[in-house]
Amino acid sequence: MTHTDSHPKSTSKRVLSGIRATGRLHLGNYLGAVKGMLELQDSAEYDTLYMVADVHTLTTPYEVEQLRTNRREVIVDYLAAGLDPQKSILFQQADVNEHIELAFYFSSVVSIARMQHLPTFKDKVKQHPDHATLALLNYPTLMASDILIYNAELVPVGKDQEPHLEVAREVARKMNDQYGTTFPEPQSFATPGAYVPSLTGEGKMSKSVEGSFINLHDTIDDIRKKVRSVPTATEVGGEMAPGVSALFSFVELLIPEEKSRFMDAYKDGSLRYVELKDTVAEAIAAELKPLQERRAELAADPAYVDQVIRDGAEKARALAQTTVADVKQKLGLA
Ligand code: TYM
Repeated sequence: MTHTDSHPKSTSKRVLSGIRATGRLHLGNYLGAVKGMLELQDSAEYDTLYMVADVHTLTTPYEVEQLRTNRREVIVDYLAAGLDPQKSILFQQADVNEHIELAFYFSSVVSIARMQHLPTFKDKVKQHPDHATLALLNYPTLMASDILIYNAELVPVGKDQEPHLEVAREVARKMNDQYGTTFPEPQSFATPGAYVPSLTGEGKMSKSVEGSFINLHDTIDDIRKKVRSVPTATEVGGEMAPGVSALFSFVELLIPEEKSRFMDAYKDGSLRYVELKDTVAEAIAAELKPLQERRAELAADPAYVDQVIRDGAEKARALAQTTVADVKQKLGLA
C-alpha cells in the first residue's frame, strides 16, 4: 500500500448535498440527486455530507407538524436508498446552527437585486404571492452556507439547482477577495437523471405540481395508474408529444436496452402506448423495490434512526464550527 492509500481522507475532497423537507422523496429527487449522492459516497476520493434542508423548508408556506415528521422521514429515505452513516455524515441542517450564522455573514456580500433576479425566486413568488419573504430571498445565501461551511467542492444536484450553485461560487469569490478566506468554488455533479420530466408532459417532475410525480413509496398499482395517465396525443406538426418524450426519458434512464425497440415502433407507427407505459411502470417499480424493502426494515428500528441523526449532527457541527470560527476571525468579529 502506498503512503497516500493509507491516508485516503487527508486528500479527500468534500461533497455536500441536501433535499428540502417538503415531504417524502419523489423519483426526480432520487434519480437527479440521490443517485449522484450514492455514487460519490462510494468513491474513495470524496468525504460526503448529506443533509435534510429543513431550515430551507421555512422559505415557503408549511405545516409545523408536517415539517417535524418530514425532517426525519427524509433521513429514513436516505438510509433506505443506501446512504450509509459509516461512509457519509447524514444530518439535519437545523441541528447545526452554524449554517444560519454563516448565512448571515454571507448576506453581507450578496446584493438584493442579484437575489430578486434569480429564476427560482421569481417562480416561488409566482406560486406563493403572499409569501415573498426575506427568508425566500435569502434562500441561495443559506444554500451557499450549507456548501461552503464544509468547504465542499462538489454538489450532487439536479439541473434546476445550477443558478444556486452560481450564487455559491460568487459568494466564495467575494468572501475570498474581501476577507481572505479560502473557500473553493463548488461545482455541481450531475447524474444522467439530472432532469426528470413531469408525468404531465410539462416541465420537470416536482412535488409542487399535482400529478407530476411518483413517490418512492408508491406501489406498482399507483405507479401503473400514474404512468398510464401520461398524455400521449401527437403534437400538431408531427413532433413527439412531450408526454411520449417523457416516457422515452424513463426508458433511457431505467431500461436503456429497450429503447431501440420502442423507438423503431414509434417511428413506423406501430407503437402501443399501453405497452410502453406498462413497461416503464414495471421498470420504475423494480428500481424502487429494494428501497421499499429497506424502508420497512428501518421503520422497525426507530432507535437506529435516532442514533444516526445524533451522530451526524455531532460530526457535522464539529466541522462547521471550525469554519465559522475562522470566518469570524477574518471578519473582525473575534
Ligand atoms: P429540492 O428539495 O427542491 O430537490 C432536491 C434535489 O432533487 C433534485 N430534483 C430533481 N432532479 C432531477 N429532476 C427533477 N425533476 C428533480 N426535482 C428535484 C434537485 O435538483 C435537488 O438536487 N435547494 C435545494 C436543497 C438544498 C441544497 C443545499 C442542495 C439546500 N441546501 C445544499 C445542495 C446543497 C432544493 O431545493 O432541492
